Amino acid sequence: MITVKGVSKSFGKHTVLSDIDLEVPESQTYALIGPSGAGKSTLIRTLNALEGIDDGEITVDGVPVHGKRTDLNDLRSRIGFVFQSFNLYPHLTARQNVSLAPRKVRGRSRAEADERSAELLSSLGLGDKLDAYPGQLSGGQQQRVAIARSLAMDPTVMLFDEPTSALDPEMIKEVLDAIRRLADTGMTMVIVTHEMGFAREVCDAVVFMADGRIVEVAPPDQFFTAPGSDRARDFLGKVLNH
Ligand SMILES: Nc1ncnc2c1ncn2[C@@H]1O[C@H](COP(=O)(O)OP(=O)(O)OP(=O)(O)O)[C@@H](O)[C@H]1O
Ligand SMILES: [Mg+2]
Repeated sequence: MITVKGVSKSFGKHTVLSDIDLEVPESQTYALIGPSGAGKSTLIRTLNALEGIDDGEITVDGVPVHGKRTDLNDLRSRIGFVFQSFNLYPHLTARQNVSLAPRKVRGRSRAEADERSAELLSSLGLGDKLDAYPGQLSGGQQQRVAIARSLAMDPTVMLFDEPTSALDPEMIKEVLDAIRRLADTGMTMVIVTHEMGFAREVCDAVVFMADGRIVEVAPPDQFFTAPGSDRARDFLGKVLNH
């Protein structure tokens, strides 16, 4: 579903992605992990052309992401992207935040978009918050609205960049549970995360990055019990023992 071939990218003289190759098959959930500055955010942002690339090729669902003739608005409407910060419209209710893009971009009627919005929000445990404004919601609730907003566009792929890092500990679980249920529905997903327990339990593979390179791609059990590189062993030693 996602194919990355020989992708490199620099910011000025600083190479942040070096010859990246990656395949994410349909319906699989891949965790992207690694130390700060490894290039995780840069890589995931290239997948929907939020970042350009200097070399190589990326296709998502058959579309060449950085192709000259690719319609970026169309591409991005089919790739959900959830960030650390939720960026909901503060003057719109949860239901309105979710139904806005289907109405504006997909031309759905208000009634149709609002009904789907309510369904999605309910499925994410927010059935009693449809008419709440973002300012009246907890961080975990706002992040679930942001997930519903992406899902409302019927994406073929969902990307997450540290979706729980801005949340208080007690809210992390509700958001991870929502993502876990999404994985169970067969959505294709790439998730940058520092939640190692989640990566191990939910993801089909772990992609470990360091210094702009993919160091290894492995099934979680293998990665966490017998990492194939010193770099990964060192990283796991730090994150699992603090
Ligand atoms: N717009 C930019 N201009 C210049 N350098 C950048 C830019 N964005 C990222 N970088 C650099 O690219 C490198 C990789 O950054 P990136 O944000 O992808 O890392 P990361 O793995 O997501 O780290 P973290 O875990 O801290 O989020 C870093 O050295 C960063 O300083
Ligand atoms: Mg990052």
